[in-house]
Amino acid sequence: MVKLPAEMLAAIVEQSSDAIIASTLDGTITLWNAGAERIYGYSAGEALGRHLSEFILPGRVAALDASLAKLAAGQHVQLDEVPRAHRDGTAVLVSVLVSPIRDEHGRVVAVAATERDITDQKRRETESARAARLAGLGQLAGGIAHDFNNLLAIILNYADFLAEEVSGEGAHDLARIRDAADRARSLTGQLLLFAKREPTQVAVVELNEVVTEAGELLSRTIGAQIELVCRPCAGRIPVLANRGRLDQILLNLVINARDAMPDGGVVMLATELAEICADGPLPPGRYARLEVSDTGTGMTAEVRDRLFEPFFTTKPADRGTGLGLSTVHGIIEEVGGHIGVDSTPGIGTTFRILLPLANDPADPPTCPGPDEDHLGHGELVAVIEDEDAVRDLVVRILREHGYRTVAASRDPGTDLDVALLISDVELRDGSGPAVAERLRAVHPGLPVLFMSGYHEVDTAEPVLRKPFTAAELLAAVAGVLPAKYTLSQ
Ligand SMILES: Nc1ncnc2c1ncn2[C@@H]1O[C@H](COP(=O)(O)OP(=O)(O)O)[C@@H](O)[C@H]1O
Ligand SMILES: [Mg+2]
Repeated sequence: MVKLPAEMLAAIVEQSSDAIIASTLDGTITLWNAGAERIYGYSAGEALGRHLSEFILPGRVAALDASLAKLAAGQHVQLDEVPRAHRDGTAVLVSVLVSPIRDEHGRVVAVAATERDITDQKRRETESARAARLAGLGQLAGGIAHDFNNLLAIILNYADFLAEEVSGEGAHDLARIRDAADRARSLTGQLLLFAKREPTQVAVVELNEVVTEAGELLSRTIGAQIELVCRPCAGRIPVLANRGRLDQILLNLVINARDAMPDGGVVMLATELAEICADGPLPPGRYARLEVSDTGTGMTAEVRDRLFEPFFTTKPADRGTGLGLSTVHGIIEEVGGHIGVDSTPGIGTTFRILLPLANDPADPPTCPGPDEDHLGHGELVAVIEDEDAVRDLVVRILREHGYRTVAASRDPGTDLDVALLISDVELRDGSGPAVAERLRAVHPGLPVLFMSGYHEVDTAEPVLRKPFTAAELLAAVAGVLPAKYTLSQ
């Protein structure tokens, strides 16, 4: 075997996009390449000399000890889907291969691990498995609904024939049969929508108009305990869709949101222009995004996984048909759109719908995308928020728009050298203003932005009210950061 010079080996290790990490047998880190910096968010300078257990999830420390023991005995360790967390709290999934390193006498003296980030790959696999399952169910449901419709046509027509012949008690009974058959027909109609067997007329529809009008109507019907907030983006956002079907989508999503908030809460309808790039769920391009979010019960991963299946419901038999979301899914797929969902039990749910923009040159969308002035340039932002879903959301919005982040669920207690502090006002074990005051003692003038749900806040600092849209968050962030200086020529 050709022996490569040490510098070359070092360069190969450094250039790998996989994390390559070496440690002593007791777990003290001795090598940490650029891939590890990317996956974990800590630089080599920060990681070297520390113990492996400081960088993995607390629940995996026992597994680490077991692995180190195996490695010391000369065995390899291979793990397929291991959860890790980036420094900013983002979940990462890796596949891991660890080998013992021996000295010239064959004694195991160290261990070396290669960790490959499989988060995206796993997400794509789950997505395509779900899509395949739904497509199968669609075929099945479409077939059943079709046969059923034939049977129902027979039942309905013969019931009508008979109705002309009978009177009195018999007519009353027949009316019942007819009612039931009619209800069955509307159910099969919904199934056919899911199965995409019912072609619909599409036209250019102004999404903001649909959302505003449906919002006004629905807010009167969902009960006094529930607040419906409508946030259409400024300007026009024409989509190619069927007006009636869009109403049906909004109705289904808002009713589900209401059902998920038995003790009241907020449901928000928002629209914006979205730019989908190469890795997105639809071909790259510009789309209209419609978001329906609630502060309800949220759902478990199991429910989330089966949500769009026809007849899947967690509601009592007299309340849920399980056809709402399967219908919504069918309608959206038919027009070439996409629906996704984010949900956290106890916190709430957000449905995100992408719809193709109408390609009418006479009527181009005027709804502004993210404002150029509101994009970050790598500024480091600390996000302190104890509700995981909100924190993840804020981090994601900031990172997608040019900021870097450090995130925590409580006062980190240490000095943070950041360009901006964003904090919830009420923290489970402390308060946002207290965190701000502590940091400002070290960094006078540090810009601060508070977020608050319900509480009246007594502070001179800007406060961003929840729920907020991505555009509102970015505008608020840009508003508190000092203006960017351009170098004079
Ligand atoms: N906003 C939401 N929050 C929590 N769970 C939801 C929400 N929307 C839908 N679900 C879950 O998805 C299931 C299926 O919804 P759907 O297809 O509309 O049928 P149904 O409303 O008749 O149960 C619901 O039973 C519920 O468990
Ligand atoms: Mg429903």
